[in-house]
Amino acid sequence: MQASFVGEGFLRNASFQTKLSNNLAESLLRITVCHCGSLPQPRLTVYRQLSEVVDRGSFGIMDVTTKMEGVLTGTERFALRQGDADDLLQELPAESVDLVITSPPYWGLRSYEADHNWDILDEWRAEHPASEIPSYEWYRSHGGLLGLEPLPEWYVANLAAILRRCQRVLKSTGSMWLNLGDTYFARWSSIRAKGRQGLNGDERQRRKTPMGGFRQEKQLLLIPSRVAIAMQEHRWILRNDLIWYKPNVPPRPFDDRLGLTHEHFFHFVKRPKEGRAKYFYSLEDVGAPHDVQQVNVVPGRDSHSASFPPKLIEPRILSSCPPDGVVLDPFSGVGTALEVSVSLGRRAIGFDLNKRFLSAAKKRLGRIAPPLF
Ligand SMILES: C[S@@+](CC[C@H](N)C(=O)[O-])C[C@H]1O[C@@H](n2cnc3c(N)ncnc32)[C@H](O)[C@@H]1O
Repeated sequence: MQASFVGEGFLRNASFQTKLSNNLAESLLRITVCHCGSLPQPRLTVYRQLSEVVDRGSFGIMDVTTKMEGVLTGTERFALRQGDADDLLQELPAESVDLVITSPPYWGLRSYEADHNWDILDEWRAEHPASEIPSYEWYRSHGGLLGLEPLPEWYVANLAAILRRCQRVLKSTGSMWLNLGDTYFARWSSIRAKGRQGLNGDERQRRKTPMGGFRQEKQLLLIPSRVAIAMQEHRWILRNDLIWYKPNVPPRPFDDRLGLTHEHFFHFVKRPKEGRAKYFYSLEDVGAPHDVQQVNVVPGRDSHSASFPPKLIEPRILSSCPPDGVVLDPFSGVGTALEVSVSLGRRAIGFDLNKRFLSAAKKRLGRIAPPLF
């Protein structure tokens, strides 16, 4: 038997396996006990028998793409699609999603093992004034990767444009939780295929970024705030700027500033055509009811270096998505948000460019069967 305990807002695994009977020799019964936030009583969810033996044999070589319709109609618990979030968001029906929860690539840190056109700024400037910013369509059709824009201004515009597509797919009662970290400007910076900045020896690409305006040496770029302001201009209502304090961030060798130990988790809702925004929100499930949350960074999973800590997202999912609602992560990586959502009795859809990450997500999600009740 395998039991997963969700307690005090974070996911803990207390696994123990027992052969139930001769007939069920290869089956596992997963029991999830949820005791979240201020709920008075633990909630018990019994999951269907699973054969991990079968799962291990089949996932990984299977295609990672699965159909979204089943999730939307309630016959499937999760779906994964490989591709650009900008395209895939357009495939979802209007008003079909209860919660978007996501952590897109941050600016100027990682390539997530994808190819990027490092000459894209020269190509653009050969035909356009320096102050003009390309559309995301032009950028990606010329080999640009989200997160590796040559200028932070391009990144802010691209991310806000992609996320704007979430407005159509979100229900009027829906929410978006957007996790973003900041970056210091450096004329010369290094971008990694994976791994954390300043740590370990992963391969890296050196890049020179033009200085000008706020782009000055040692400048904290305030990228999360710039994205949030661009989102407000795209009709989003910002409800919270939750500060994720990461106490276990390793110290860095700086002697003229404090360590950067927090990230932002913005809560947005849709601006209604008239009146005030009215959206699903379960206050009893928010965990600590204030906008600073202390959660340790977790080690990367499945060679993905930037996965969500379950403890950070679990209260957001419980409080911003109704039971059995649909959660979307358009930059799903190895599927942490999807895995936590399905474990909590929600349905989940994930998009990612990287087939290997999706494959890892599929394997994890395949081990969680639909609740029996
Ligand atoms: C910060 S990671 C997300 C990690 C995820 N929250 C998890 O827990 O695994 C960002 C992800 O976005 C993906 N990505 C980058 N550009 C994308 C795009 N245009 N469309 C879809 N996914 C993209 C990357 O492959 C990467 O897995």
